[in-house]
Amino acid sequence: MSSVSTDTIATASPAQARWSLDSIEWSALRRDVVVGNEAMFYLIAAASFVEATTDLYTQNLLDYFAEDDEITEWLRAHWLPEELQHGRALRHYVQLAWPDFDWDGVYEGFLPEFAAQCAEDGVEPTRSREMASRCCVEMGTASYYRTLSRMTDDPVLSALTRHISDDEVSHYKHFYRYLKKYQAREGQRRIGIARALWNRLRMIDGADSRIAISHIYRGRHPGRSFDEGLYRELRRGSRPLIRRHFPHRMCVQMLLKPLGLGRWAHSVALPVVEAVARRVVP
Ligand SMILES: [Fe+2]
Ligand SMILES: [Fe+2]
Repeated sequence: MSSVSTDTIATASPAQARWSLDSIEWSALRRDVVVGNEAMFYLIAAASFVEATTDLYTQNLLDYFAEDDEITEWLRAHWLPEELQHGRALRHYVQLAWPDFDWDGVYEGFLPEFAAQCAEDGVEPTRSREMASRCCVEMGTASYYRTLSRMTDDPVLSALTRHISDDEVSHYKHFYRYLKKYQAREGQRRIGIARALWNRLRMIDGADSRIAISHIYRGRHPGRSFDEGLYRELRRGSRPLIRRHFPHRMCVQMLLKPLGLGRWAHSVALPVVEAVARRVVP
């Protein structure tokens, strides 16, 4: 559990933020195009829950890089406040678009289960591998929000998710720079970086989203139980939409970059991995 004071950080605005909740034109929200879209509701609500809890898995990272002021200062002043702002903005969106959903009440039930899950997450054995793993997380979130911004006809959701996606790309660039710094220092070979990316890829869209979706479903349908079959059904509902709008090329480029392939290998790998990604993602 984080020792960072969430009371002060959760309400703080990111330093030199590119956008804020006040810069979003909430009154332009088109409820008519989102209100009946169940798939979108689950995608946005689940994202809002996970983003709002970023402070739970921040302490591991701060401890691991405790001797590197450049990294810990950036994490505290930029990364964490920006991630928490994503949570606040998405929560506000859910509350405006689907006012019947008791965001605070459902989140309260979600938090302890999610915190227990976060406590099990470890770090990679070297700092460069941990940074590669973080690049992979930001690749995942950048692609997710880019997809949402393309999927929706609501201008507010489109603008909001575009802002968040741009933040995630910026986070990726920072983690990538720190990866290079530690890779040079540790002499970490490419195979270790690939392993860290693979470890994280397997975790994306796993337990985190399952916990969030189960609470959100039970909040939306009180008295009904939630099981694996239902989870798969909900995922199946959003898959065709996501697949059509997913930024495959961006995702693959962000995934290959930490491997530092030479130009020739990169130009060969890119279309191959992109073709695979088009078949398997999401
Ligand atoms: Fe985020
Ligand atoms: Fe991020």
